[in-house]
Amino acid sequence: MTRVFSGMQPSGDPHLGNLLGAWVNWVAMQEDRECVYCVVDLHAITSPAEHDPATLAARTLELATGMLAVGVDPQRSILFVQSHLHEHAECTWLFNCVAGFGELRKMPQFKEKSEGKGDAVSVGLFDYPVLQAADILLYHADEVPVGEDQRHHIELARDIAQRFNHRFATPEAPVFTLPKAVHPPAAARVMDLQDPTVKMSKSASSEKGIISVLDEPKRIEKKIKSAVTDSAGDIRHDRAAKPGVSNLLEILAAATHREVDELAAEYDGGGYGTFKLAVAEAVIELLRPIQDRYAELADDPGEVQRVLADGADRAREVAVPTLQHAKQAMGLLPRG
Ligand code: AMP
Ligand code: TRP
Repeated sequence: MTRVFSGMQPSGDPHLGNLLGAWVNWVAMQEDRECVYCVVDLHAITSPAEHDPATLAARTLELATGMLAVGVDPQRSILFVQSHLHEHAECTWLFNCVAGFGELRKMPQFKEKSEGKGDAVSVGLFDYPVLQAADILLYHADEVPVGEDQRHHIELARDIAQRFNHRFATPEAPVFTLPKAVHPPAAARVMDLQDPTVKMSKSASSEKGIISVLDEPKRIEKKIKSAVTDSAGDIRHDRAAKPGVSNLLEILAAATHREVDELAAEYDGGGYGTFKLAVAEAVIELLRPIQDRYAELADDPGEVQRVLADGADRAREVAVPTLQHAKQAMGLLPRG
């Protein structure tokens, strides 16, 4: 069966973009694939600006709770916390000796995050994609559902797997499976409500543009009502000319499982006020069951911890033999 791996960092509150762009896909993939989902807390400590030791543990538990609330099913899938398996860090070291300094220096995310920071950039930030390669390759993942911005990281994981196999294994008995990135449909790119030309993001300057998965109905309504549109008044899908209206149409389509064009035809002529109210209602209804489930789970954090402990045990069953195989292939002496 096709094996899937994906991860999300416990930094910032999960928002509508995370839900529609990633989680909806994660949940659907459980139907016919073996899925491994991970809260990547070791990635979240690579930038000092995003790392608050006082809140990291709580955020990790909250993100795992959110994943369960949206429908990650721990009976069918493996859900775990990255730092609970030292194998990820250990495998990273092996891959550090396979990955090239030059290729890491060119990673767009590293270039962007390190620009102008000089010596304040951690080695961890530089090494971030190698840890990500370890996440993916330890589980022999075939498919990695991620946003477009992660494309280079998945290509690097693939290159590392290929190079490792070439250097340390035979074509008949490779150690690692070559993964490929799978991207959600373009319509799953949710834009900021205040600036619909940029992606809704945890690092946005104002939270008015972001709908958190746990926002209360009143707040959602307020944010959508004040979403930036344009002065034309017509409702049609045109990302270039009408980014705000197009974004709302896409959100409405995703939340109601209907077609954008059909919705545009239905609401065109009725004014932005009515349209926005419909979008707000659809988002509130979409989030209601998730929020209810979240509240139930959050009431019993011990249960979430148990799910994560079980997930770590099951993750280890896959990761430990893979790592052993890799160490043996590299010629390291097995412990007697
Ligand atoms: P991040 O919030 O950047 O850590 O991303 C976590 C996951 O959510 C990745 O798979 C992203 O591609 C996805 N994601 C983040 N923001 C958006 C967005 N605005 N629209 C669609 N998907 C998103
Ligand atoms: N870097 C990814 C992101 O920011 C998160 C991540 C870490 C990940 N390890 C992964 C995603 C492995 C997919 C597979 O979105």
